[in-house]
Amino acid sequence: MGNNLNQIGLDAGQAGELSEKLNVLLANYQLFYMNARGFHWNIRGHKFFELHLKFEELYNDSLIKIDEIAERILTLGLTPLHTYTDYSRASKIKEAKNVTDPIQGVREILRGYGVLLPLERELLELSNKANDEGTNALMSDYMPEQEKSVWMYSAFLNE
Ligand SMILES: [Fe+2]
Repeated sequence: MGNNLNQIGLDAGQAGELSEKLNVLLANYQLFYMNARGFHWNIRGHKFFELHLKFEELYNDSLIKIDEIAERILTLGLTPLHTYTDYSRASKIKEAKNVTDPIQGVREILRGYGVLLPLERELLELSNKANDEGTNALMSDYMPEQEKSVWMYSAFLNE
């Protein structure tokens, strides 16, 4: 541990590293969120009512997490990304445009989790090393919840 502590007693360098990665998670989550909104609006077909609601639940939950991630970055003493330009630049999840097929929508969601979960696992490891219990707790809340969602969306696809 260095002796350069930030305001909440974490190593400043490690807090910087954590914030950087949290910003990447934030950016990906924003794209994940907007994609879920698009699916909520645009999907068509006989699964409409079921998935229209599911995607709404998902984007509402994403909004809460987005806010938590951004405010964790501020708590660590740094600035969350907050522009569309930065989000699309930093996000590995890409914009899903004009998705009307429910199966494709669910596949995109699963692909999104495939990006979010490994990022969170990296953050879990990093926050462990930094003794950053706040970030650690956030990640260990998100991960089992999202892993369960992966199971459920996969079951929906029967894949
Ligand atoms: Fe709606």
